[in-house]
Amino acid sequence: MFDLRIFSIRESRHRIHNPLTERQLAAFGAALDLTAGARVLDLACGSGELLSTWARDHRITGLGVDLNPDFIAHARARADALGVGDAVKFVEADAAGYVADDPVDVAACVGATWIGGGVPGTLDLLSRSLEPGGMLLVGEPYWRTVPTTPEALAGCGVPSAEEFLTLPDLLGSFGARGYDVVEMVCATEESWDRYQAPQWLAMRRWADAHPDHELHDEVRHLLATEPQQYAAFTRRYVGWALVALIAR
Ligand SMILES: C[S@@+](CC[C@H](N)C(=O)[O-])C[C@H]1O[C@@H](n2cnc3c(N)ncnc32)[C@H](O)[C@@H]1O
Repeated sequence: MFDLRIFSIRESRHRIHNPLTERQLAAFGAALDLTAGARVLDLACGSGELLSTWARDHRITGLGVDLNPDFIAHARARADALGVGDAVKFVEADAAGYVADDPVDVAACVGATWIGGGVPGTLDLLSRSLEPGGMLLVGEPYWRTVPTTPEALAGCGVPSAEEFLTLPDLLGSFGARGYDVVEMVCATEESWDRYQAPQWLAMRRWADAHPDHELHDEVRHLLATEPQQYAAFTRRYVGWALVALIAR
């Protein structure tokens, strides 16, 4: 199990915990033709930016579930700051196996498909909360270039090339499971940088302020190794897509 505290430290200033920018997330939301009052479930919602900004921009209502208490606290504060605290609610809970009490119009898992044991299991999990004809949103990495060396695989933080698909294969896999892909937005190198690089300043500031903390050496190690590793591998090999799906 990963240490949630590391994510709270490195992503303490992030509102979006994935490699899309605010502009990309807003453009994607606008492209979905969301109707006022649409109910959106977001499993592993992080700091809730998708729900809160879409509630502000499209008047959706929503429920976000995440097991990081720091992110849930940020999500509630952000919803209140945007004036949508009545429209979107956030629950601190394990999203693995989470099914909404009442069916929703849109069910999302953006960047955490391990909650369903992978993409197929997450589609099945989300579908259990979905109204017939509703929309699924899934955020998932893919290979821009498939790594062929153990060094490159390790640099991307995965045990094997089977961990991800290429983008055509990922989109094809949705079709093979009975879904139409109806929208998509992909990270760019620049948007990856906006996700990754602010983590380094957050870690540096935290390490300076917590020299005696038990996580200090781990954070210092990440700071010393990650920028070079990111530039050599993740930035080059790994893509990231948020797709919208409707069952056939
Ligand atoms: C890559 S972040 C994505 C967060 C958010 N969807 C976003 O795009 O901003 C992954 C999120 O999954 C959450 N998470 C991981 N495992 C979880 C679980 N079993 N149940 C609920 N949340 C989980 C983490 O706390 C983190 O917020």
